Amino acid sequence: MKKEQVVNCQFSVWYPIFKKHTIKSLILPLPQNVIEYLLDDGTLVVPESNTQQPATNCNDSDSEEDIQWSDDETTTVTAPEFPEFTSKVQEAINALGGRVFPKLNWSSPRDANWIALNSSLQCHSLSDVFLLFKSSDFITHDLTQPFLLCNDDSPDPEISFELVLRKWSELIPGGEFRCFVKENKLIGISQRDYTQYYQHISKQRGDICRAIHDFFRDHVQYKFLDEDFVLDVYRDSEGRVWVIDLNPFGEVTDSLLFTWEELTNQVERDPDQQDGPVFRYTTSEVTVQPSPCLSYRMPRDFVDLSTGEDAYKLIDFLKLQKSQQEQSDEEA
Ligand SMILES: Nc1ncnc2c1ncn2[C@@H]1O[C@H](COP(=O)(O)OP(=O)(O)OP(=O)(O)O)[C@@H](O)[C@H]1O
Ligand SMILES: [Mg+2]
Repeated sequence: MKKEQVVNCQFSVWYPIFKKHTIKSLILPLPQNVIEYLLDDGTLVVPESNTQQPATNCNDSDSEEDIQWSDDETTTVTAPEFPEFTSKVQEAINALGGRVFPKLNWSSPRDANWIALNSSLQCHSLSDVFLLFKSSDFITHDLTQPFLLCNDDSPDPEISFELVLRKWSELIPGGEFRCFVKENKLIGISQRDYTQYYQHISKQRGDICRAIHDFFRDHVQYKFLDEDFVLDVYRDSEGRVWVIDLNPFGEVTDSLLFTWEELTNQVERDPDQQDGPVFRYTTSEVTVQPSPCLSYRMPRDFVDLSTGEDAYKLIDFLKLQKSQQEQSDEEA
């Protein structure tokens, strides 16, 4: 994969080419101070005073005296503010109907949806976007190492970071497919949500494959800047096909039900499949698998406690803390 292929797959590069066939979106340049805030490892809110670090050695009996835990100490907690950018973002969100799906140049914060109160990537304000972006490794990847796994030695191209806001659309996971395009030929199509079995996909596999192939031939083939790329599409309930995203043809992109080795060499056709792209989907024999993003989450209990969503869990937690404290007081 070449750096140029990655550059070409930026949202602002492919969107104007396929605008008629994709979800309405707006692109805003990301100001430098916002980029710095997103990359800052601190928490969402930054305390202005009380910069004193607590002592780290808990076994040190003197340490308690060093830390000021008393309630009467006033600490001001403020979040950084970006008034101009905030109002531009809010204007864009309103223009898109009030609910948006956020991305950077390449990635969405798919790995962070668990942190949002509604466990969704739907955003209504810039602070919703910030919460997701700051919790996402995929967003950090876009900002810090977009050319990871590229095999050319040229210097990294200059990137202008952008916030992409897409009109929120209720996409049914069973309608999403990933298309692998090599030398401007559609060589493979994979069900996107391969962890689930969808009966309609096995039943309508011929129609689905044909609809995607026709869409590719009529609206995508020879229209993109590269001849190798990965195209994500959505087939709606009326059978119409839409572009969802373009991704580089290489290891940074998930090959789903294919392997990169077969995609770069030769994709074997099932004996019962005729000409055209090879279409792979999850069959009923395969047991349902866990979500691929599970490893990015933290325990549900932790999330409930930190958001205060489950009051009973919080009470149990405080009771547990109290009894542990009483126990250690008795032992002392
Ligand atoms: N406008 C939208 N409204 C609601 N959901 C969306 C929207 N756009 C995308 N999605 C959902 O989010 C998923 C991820 O979107 P997208 O492909 O743009 O992200 P990505 O970070 O590029 O993913 P990948 O890493 O797999 O390439 C899609 O598969 C779709 O289910
Ligand atoms: Mg993508």
